[in-house]
Amino acid sequence: MNIIITGAGKGIGYSLVLKCIASAKEGDNIFAISRNIDQLLLIREHACNFHAIKCDITNSLQLNHAIDTIKKQCNEIDFLINNAGCLINKSFNEIEIEDIDKVFDTNFKAPFLIIKELYGLLSRSKIAHIVNVSSMGGFQGAAKFAGLSVYSSSKAALVCLTECLAEEFKSSTIKVNALCIGAVETEMLSNAFPNYKAPITSEQMAEFIFQFTCNNGRYMNGKVIPVALTTP
Ligand SMILES: NC(=O)c1ccc[n+]([C@@H]2O[C@H](COP(=O)([O-])OP(=O)(O)OC[C@H]3O[C@@H](n4cnc5c(N)ncnc54)[C@H](OP(=O)(O)O)[C@@H]3O)[C@@H](O)[C@H]2O)c1
Repeated sequence: MNIIITGAGKGIGYSLVLKCIASAKEGDNIFAISRNIDQLLLIREHACNFHAIKCDITNSLQLNHAIDTIKKQCNEIDFLINNAGCLINKSFNEIEIEDIDKVFDTNFKAPFLIIKELYGLLSRSKIAHIVNVSSMGGFQGAAKFAGLSVYSSSKAALVCLTECLAEEFKSSTIKVNALCIGAVETEMLSNAFPNYKAPITSEQMAEFIFQFTCNNGRYMNGKVIPVALTTP
């Protein structure tokens, strides 16, 4: 198994890294990308090849460097989890153009470019599965919240990208699905909904995302799946 996880430094992404490491075998490659990799560097025990890559995915120079590092280490990628995300909680009239750029660059443009750059490596794997981590906020018809217009719209764009790529990659081995997750107890959630306690921990959601990524590419493509117990 060769797997890439973005936004791996904390929250759900960090829990995903721990799940991957626990299941990985010798020869597997796990690439964990984040701006802050301090916690990742403390992970000492792993049977596989573990690569913590410091990278701001909205910075094209850093992203190119990260992609080069991955390409030097392996010839194919089985799983890509676009988990990194950025949330800005501001009322519509306070939103600046920089806010829109920051959120869309992280939540939409970076996954787009990462998939584009890794298409070659993914297409060499017979089980390639891209999982885009979206949000219930980006799921059509789900409850919406004041202050999250840019965030939710960016996650809806990621959902649409998922559907478009499933169609466009139809003749390849690559499957693309999106998970619209609900509230999970992380730093991001407490910024969006202070004082709200989520019913799901990052470890629990990471377990679900990991199993979904490894097993469900065989059965579905271009699907947008709501994964939520409650709203938010
Ligand atoms: N928690 C929830 O309730 C919830 C609900 C719906 C959807 N989601 C989605 O789930 C995913 C994980 O969220 P989380 O709750 O675990 O959030 P989190 O605790 O804030 O973690 C977000 C991760 O993304 C990374 N990241 C952000 N900007 C980045 C950038 N420019 N370059 C590289 N890495 C970047 C952060 O790491 P660094 O700061 O180290 O870079 C961090 O590891 C996100 O896509 C989020 O939108 C979460």
